Amino acid sequence: MFVLFLIFLLVATYFFVTKNHDYWKKRNVKHDRPIPLFGNHFRNVMGIKSIVEIANELYNKYPEEKIVGYYRGRTPTLIVRDLDIAKHILNVDFIHFYLRGLTRNPDLEPLLLNLFHVEGDSWKLARKRLTAAFTTAKLKAMFPLIVRCAEKLHSVGKRIALNGGECDIREMMARFTTEFIGACGFGIEMDTINDENSLFRELGKKIFNHPSVNLIVIALYDLFPEFKSVLHIPERGVRESITEILINIRSQRGGKPSGRNDFVDLLLDLESKGKICGESIEKFKEDGTPLEAEMDMDLKFMVAQVFIFFAAGFETSSSATSYTLHQLAYHPEIQERIQVEIDDVLLKYNNELSYDAIARMPLLAMAFKEAMRLFPSVAALHRVCAKRYTIEDAGVTIDPGVKIIIPIQAIQNDEKYFERPTEFKPERFSENKAERPKYAYLPFGEGPRACLGARLGEMQSLAGLAAVLQKFTVEPAPSTKRNVEVDHTHNVVQGIKGGLPLILKLRKANVI
Ligand code: HEM
Repeated sequence: MFVLFLIFLLVATYFFVTKNHDYWKKRNVKHDRPIPLFGNHFRNVMGIKSIVEIANELYNKYPEEKIVGYYRGRTPTLIVRDLDIAKHILNVDFIHFYLRGLTRNPDLEPLLLNLFHVEGDSWKLARKRLTAAFTTAKLKAMFPLIVRCAEKLHSVGKRIALNGGECDIREMMARFTTEFIGACGFGIEMDTINDENSLFRELGKKIFNHPSVNLIVIALYDLFPEFKSVLHIPERGVRESITEILINIRSQRGGKPSGRNDFVDLLLDLESKGKICGESIEKFKEDGTPLEAEMDMDLKFMVAQVFIFFAAGFETSSSATSYTLHQLAYHPEIQERIQVEIDDVLLKYNNELSYDAIARMPLLAMAFKEAMRLFPSVAALHRVCAKRYTIEDAGVTIDPGVKIIIPIQAIQNDEKYFERPTEFKPERFSENKAERPKYAYLPFGEGPRACLGARLGEMQSLAGLAAVLQKFTVEPAPSTKRNVEVDHTHNVVQGIKGGLPLILKLRKANVI
């Protein structure tokens, strides 16, 4: 009897750990052979490779395929290689792919109510309201805050330059970005740039330096999505800190927008409008028309949005700007041309950075775009199939729950779309260059779930770069590695092992 039970248990376990592992075979989609329980996800679960590195590998391994199959544990996942299919998923047939699939249980982790992680109707309603925060007029109004942060960057840079110049440029740009996001997002200035241990910098480190326990929870979550209702990552005081700051600012402003034009003003304005209502993306009447959906604009929701404003804005921009400086350190002739451009433009603007001045620095913008092509901060886009869908171009039908990865770093480094893709050539982005397919370059994503802060991120990044290059020249340090080594444990925003060491030198023409 016991032996029979044991056999039954073994067979049941085998079926459980290999469930779905014939999904791609049945659909004739090429894929690597899965192993029980892990599927193809073993190296990610063990922290050996990030999901981006794996997706890039598969993109290059199957050059003739439009789509490649992958098993994230037992969950079928599709790596999209074809730009037309990517266009349909991200944009044309978005109604089938409105889920991102990176969330866990917001009841256990309320910070996941933020726009990046939240799903379904809550996402749709929140996105509609929050879009109002990023109009051109609002961005322009934020610019004086950026300039103040850039000025602080000068003083900290000078201190570094006078002390030999070697620094981790990623850390320096992270402090600039944190200062800016703090000023724009929370509405307070904290001197993050000068103070290594400022509250915001500590908050940033807490959010992005993942302790091993987080990695274990995420691995378990990938392997056993059934335990969604119990698996969660401890918030380590992040929510409490943000809630406390938000409550203080709200009471300082008497619960009303203060005219400072920051993100907190916007949220207070939205709060005063009460419930958010709109058409549902998930629920329909029998005749196919959408039902009405609504959600409360409460403190929990506001805290989650402040959190994402801080988290999404800070790590992405500091990664993109520091990698641009890394490339410029190895291309001194391009760096010099950009510095001349900055000098010429600023001469016409009273030597002061401004929204209009930055808009007149095309070479700087091109270098930034090229750096984001080579090393995008968010190097893969994620979606989940919400409604059964046929990929016409591949003759494959997929079911709800299938995950989608669009490996933008691999696409952006494919010689099919970019000649000599490993070279840093900003002129690729000059206006008179031939058009490349739109979906071959997506550092901010695409479609209704594209980056909400793309223009803010770009503006703040260009201002930070202009501020550095106006006063300093960057050069490789003895410890700089030309080809950066990614942190295998970072799966959303790419991390770099050992930071980005560079030497910062005061430009001869400048006296600060
Ligand atoms: C250089 C800077 C930045 C880069 C490279 C970047 C990149 C991205 C990417 C690739 C996505 C996913 C898009 C998709 O799935 O199609 C995203 C989403 C998002 N980003 Fe950014 N981002 C940057 C700056 C910012 C800033 C400054 C903010 C806000 C202050 C922000 C807020 C968001 C939000 C809220 C989402 C989720 C949008 C949604 O799901 O509706 N980002 N970002």
